[in-house]
Amino acid sequence: MLRSISEVRHTSLATRRCCPVKSRAALHEAVFVKHDTNPSKFFDVTLLTPREERSIRVASDQHIWDAAFEQGVELPALCHQGWCLTCAGRIEGQGEVDQADSLAFFPQDREAGFGLLCTGRPCSDLTIRTHQAVEMRKHRLKDGLPSPYSQGLKP
Ligand code: FES
Repeated sequence: MLRSISEVRHTSLATRRCCPVKSRAALHEAVFVKHDTNPSKFFDVTLLTPREERSIRVASDQHIWDAAFEQGVELPALCHQGWCLTCAGRIEGQGEVDQADSLAFFPQDREAGFGLLCTGRPCSDLTIRTHQAVEMRKHRLKDGLPSPYSQGLKP
């Protein structure tokens, strides 16, 4: 069964990281066949952007940025790998985001309420304030953590 772009990208990245594909048939299997027999859960995610408040539905195995894009909400992004902080958001209130797909995400980021939407998957209903790249970069600088594209910023 053909899957969504985000699922293919996620599977493709997971395949590259964890299990080298040995043949063309194995690659097709890894990318196009859904191995997980558990149906996805869906969560309601409210996005507080500078222009509007939008509610979207996001599957538990979907990146929040991809779901927003598919539902007509354009959010900032650059690397799409959970590294550059361009897509940063901040969780308001309760809620959890799985950042296992991010290249660099630290416990201090989670404690401060930040999330990287390009590689974050919802674990619950969420309210997220978007466009938080500058704030997250300042937070990283303050904690002495990697902060790409933060030249000129002060913590
Ligand atoms: S776009 Fe680079 S961390 Fe999300």
